Amino acid sequence: MEQELRQLQAEAESKLPSLENLEELEEIRVQYLGRKGLFTGLLRQLGQVSAEDRPRLGKLANEIKNELELKFNARKSELSGIGAGTVAEKDDLSLPGRRVPFGRLHPVTQIMDEVCAIFIDLGFAVAEGPDIELDYYNFEALNIPQHHPARDMHDTFYISDSILLRTHTSPMQIRAMEKEKPPLRIIAPGKVYRCDSDITHTPMFHQVEGFLVDHKVSFADLKGVLTVFCQKMFDQKDIRLRFRPSFFPFTEPSAEVDIGCVICRGEGCRVCKQTGWLEILGAGMIDPEVLKMVDYDPEEFTGFAFGLGIERIAMLKYGIDDIRLFYENDIRFLNQF
Ligand code: FA5
Repeated sequence: MEQELRQLQAEAESKLPSLENLEELEEIRVQYLGRKGLFTGLLRQLGQVSAEDRPRLGKLANEIKNELELKFNARKSELSGIGAGTVAEKDDLSLPGRRVPFGRLHPVTQIMDEVCAIFIDLGFAVAEGPDIELDYYNFEALNIPQHHPARDMHDTFYISDSILLRTHTSPMQIRAMEKEKPPLRIIAPGKVYRCDSDITHTPMFHQVEGFLVDHKVSFADLKGVLTVFCQKMFDQKDIRLRFRPSFFPFTEPSAEVDIGCVICRGEGCRVCKQTGWLEILGAGMIDPEVLKMVDYDPEEFTGFAFGLGIERIAMLKYGIDDIRLFYENDIRFLNQF
């Protein structure tokens, strides 16, 4: 019995080196170690061995089985190409390595960079501020006092009574003007938050605030800057721009600026709510009350301000009809930009 066991072991081991693939290996494994294999067959005969020899032979059979299993596993690793330190013949070391796929900037980041580059070219400096903002900067100093109805316009995420997630980038007007004296020409890009979610609104989105304060700044300057911006952004000299009278507590007069819907080319569609226009920004002349809040003399200085929605611009530029696509993180969508 002992001799037969050892013979079977030697026979199985001698077959391993010449096996060429995993299928052949599995065939041999089943032949020797399978439930109906040669080795199992031999073990069944243990019952006929004398009670005296049985424990010793049983132990030996187990040892041999374990050794064989180890050798089969080692050969399996080799044939799968993961042999310890060995290079299988099929590996061609002269082949180029596997390329790690490059990432790319999110379309919203790309548009944000483009918008900033245009305003930097126009002489604006970039300032950044906190997403978690004080009520004072987000509302109070912008002439939106505690019970002003304009606060209803912003569905705000409050952290405490006096701390919130900023609902727009306008608080940066105050922060920047507190720090510097006019003249100033600043853009403030960043994330803003509102309880809002539908085909053109997401609870987190991006704005770029722009403001300019100097002697004798007029609404014509605002119109000029925004027109140049839209021409460059959409690469169209004859871009259609519409200034609609509007209201913001921190600007007077105020306007909503729309551009012609590029999805339906003005025909009217789901995105532009059949109007042919898409709102991209709010703007106006900085309210004298706001200038007073930062100790600027409204008799001496005037200024304009605007706040634009980056996702809206990205939608127009790329003809996307649902803002939520930007934040679903579907690689097939994001790879197109
Ligand atoms: C404001 O946020 C003002 N702070 C803008 C402003 C700045 C006016 C300076 C005057 C002077 P409004 O709530 O309209 O305004 O938002 C500005 C732009 O942000 C909108 O035109 C729109 O493009 C975009 N926007 C607003 N809400 C959302 C939202 N939930 N998701 C995506 N974009 C939005």
